[in-house]
Amino acid sequence: MTLMPAVARLTASPNFSLCQAANGSAYVVGEVEPYPQYWLCERERLLFALFGRKGGVPVEEAMKALLALRPAADPLGEQKRIDRAIAGMVAAGVLIAPAGELSRYGKAMARDYLVHRPFPTGLVGHLRRAGGIGGQSRVLDLASGPGSLALALAEHTPHVSVMELSRGFVAAARAEAKRRGLALGAINESCNRLVQLDASFDVITVSQALHWLDDVAVCKGVCRTLAAAGSFFVIHAAMDLPESHPLAHILGNRTPLGDKLAVPFAEQVRPLFRRLALLFGALDAPDVERHDPAHARAGSTPIAGAGISLFRQERPMGEGFARAFLSDRHIAVLGQTADAVQRDIAERCSVATPDQLMGAMDWAVLHFRRGAADFDWAAWSPPEPEAIAYP
Ligand SMILES: C[S@@+](CC[C@H](N)C(=O)[O-])C[C@H]1O[C@@H](n2cnc3c(N)ncnc32)[C@H](O)[C@@H]1O
Repeated sequence: MTLMPAVARLTASPNFSLCQAANGSAYVVGEVEPYPQYWLCERERLLFALFGRKGGVPVEEAMKALLALRPAADPLGEQKRIDRAIAGMVAAGVLIAPAGELSRYGKAMARDYLVHRPFPTGLVGHLRRAGGIGGQSRVLDLASGPGSLALALAEHTPHVSVMELSRGFVAAARAEAKRRGLALGAINESCNRLVQLDASFDVITVSQALHWLDDVAVCKGVCRTLAAAGSFFVIHAAMDLPESHPLAHILGNRTPLGDKLAVPFAEQVRPLFRRLALLFGALDAPDVERHDPAHARAGSTPIAGAGISLFRQERPMGEGFARAFLSDRHIAVLGQTADAVQRDIAERCSVATPDQLMGAMDWAVLHFRRGAADFDWAAWSPPEPEAIAYP
């Protein structure tokens, strides 16, 4: 008997990698935020291996295999210890259901995300022009969500792919591409592993997501996969709600989810640009002799900053927008049930006028390009943002 009869099969989560300390102790590290570490006793190390089969393994089967590998003097006691070990690994997300979600964002949010957080049309036009995206361009959208930006670009080139951790979002992007009759490649994988991708792209984008990723790993991956004269775009966004907005308590400047930086938007963008420009300067340096093959493939023209563009978009921010924004992990921080939070949001929105539900999004497009003249971020004097329509 197991403590978890309801869970028929489990698999080792692909979000974790097995490591060994110099003294031989085994542990797994989460390769995606919040980058947890979970130390394994011998029993757990074997369980991680036994469950590491594609499609998962029935819990009872793994238990029997473990008992056969490590015969115990008290099989019943050992069975209980195995049970507790599995429960602990499940609670830590080290073992998951075979089709279990890998991201904090999942299937339940996909429809709301596509409808209520559409990627701005004005920014799609800007990216197409600045990136020179045409019918032959190979484009990769990192951490694409359910594919709003990638699908818009797929209208212009049949060579667009997404790389996204969420199984639910990847499925939604594929379904939406099919519905619209568009070609879309989909890689269900952590973008922190971009460097392992054997591919080349003319344009790589990442929108509203770099903060969830290991940006050093992403930049290494961009160095490896960005083609000659290729562009890398980082799209950064910030919400701006008036204090009087019905959802300001949860999406405004000071909320239980965290306080927003009290600096003008452009001064949030400048340090981000500086960090990425310095990272590319350090990582993509073909004049430095190295022996790693990834670096040797990077090409001879380094990636450098090409410029920053600012936009502002007035838009409704109501119940659907909040649903598309608040994952279960966000809600967990609030210490309330998802139902209670959503009910409260619905009530607040139901008594508000359309005008009261209006807010604004500030958008910045940070452009890096192979062979760019190295944009001077320190001397940058931010222009007035260009107003763009919703969506
Ligand atoms: C706020 S959404 C942004 C979605 C989309 N890019 C957009 O602008 O609407 C963040 C996305 O990052 C994805 N994500 C988080 N960590 C990831 C990782 N390590 N690798 C790939 N995708 C990741 C989430 O699953 C989610 O879809």
